[in-house]
Amino acid sequence: MSDTTFLTLDKLSLAYGSTVAVKDLDLEIRKGELLALLGPSGCGKTTTMRSIAGLMNPVGGRIHLDGTDITRVAANKRAVGLVFQSYALFPHLTVFENVAFGLKLKGIRGTELETKVKAGLKSVGLAAFADRKTPELSGGQQQRVALARSMVMEPKVLLLDEPLSNLDARLRLEMRTELQRVQKESGVTMIFVTHDQVEALALADRIVVMKNGAIEQIGTPEEIYNHPVSSFVADFVGFENIFAIRDGKLVTGTGEVALPGNLPRAAGLAWRPRTISLGSGPMKGRVRGVSFAGGTREYVLETPLGTIKAEVDAALPAHALDADVAFDLPVESAALLKRFG
Ligand SMILES: Nc1ncnc2c1ncn2[C@@H]1O[C@H](COP(=O)(O)OP(=O)(O)OP(=O)(O)O)[C@@H](O)[C@H]1O
Ligand SMILES: [Mg+2]
Repeated sequence: MSDTTFLTLDKLSLAYGSTVAVKDLDLEIRKGELLALLGPSGCGKTTTMRSIAGLMNPVGGRIHLDGTDITRVAANKRAVGLVFQSYALFPHLTVFENVAFGLKLKGIRGTELETKVKAGLKSVGLAAFADRKTPELSGGQQQRVALARSMVMEPKVLLLDEPLSNLDARLRLEMRTELQRVQKESGVTMIFVTHDQVEALALADRIVVMKNGAIEQIGTPEEIYNHPVSSFVADFVGFENIFAIRDGKLVTGTGEVALPGNLPRAAGLAWRPRTISLGSGPMKGRVRGVSFAGGTREYVLETPLGTIKAEVDAALPAHALDADVAFDLPVESAALLKRFG
């Protein structure tokens, strides 16, 4: 991955009629980077991808790719590939013919065509399937064909819009690894849309968290996972105990609660269930739910702060339902939120 910017979105605004879907979006992507767009339904992920692909004209702002302003360049002249959740393969054509389709449109024929298609199929592990019709393939294999079909066009940027969401959990994991391998081997710049935080954390060099058509946070998976800037991001990446701070106290469902010691200067604090100490501490709660989760046990506690979710090593003795348990929210293990909401 190089340090220079390869794709730039500059104050990009996108709308459907009077509905503004994306507003003043700024984003810089480096060559060879795998960027994940993460966010809830309707936050503008697909819309952003459509505009990069040239399927939608922005109402404001510019898009630059590899030193060229492509804002008004036609979709088929952009060298941007797009893979959707539905693979849209041609069912009456073989795997080979599906992958060859776009190359043929570009006038590539003969040995060159054969070499490129075979290399594409090999890169996704489908060399042995060239003569099959696509309906005779598994979901994962079909997705690989779709990936190969885009890759052989040698796009400068490959956009993938929830490419794995049609697959079952195991295939999804397999394809995730596959995608990462293909990306690293080819060095192609990729933007990957998902609303699955685990997928984004596992795959991406950087993650862009979107909310209501704007960027809420950009960071490495570690930054997003450990240092969410807002309660929105914290909630999205699995912090289940999130509180605003007002006048040095936690704002809870049952009023403002002081914690022992001084609270840090932040708009809020967030704890993952496994950073809650259970069994000792200055506060008391009642066990309202307990479930065994393999390596850990998950607790739902009713407390003066409202509901608290805790997760502890399953090897420790279990606390019974309705038991009173001491607990602590260690401030040193909380994420400090700069914004609340
Ligand atoms: N064709 C359309 N006409 C009008 N509004 C649209 C259209 N497509 C999307 N929108 C609106 O634009 C906003 C962004 O939609 P978009 O499809 O980009 O969301 P998304 O982040 O991809 O969501 P999802 O995770 O559900 O795919 C939403 O409010 C949506 O309702
Ligand atoms: Mg979408």
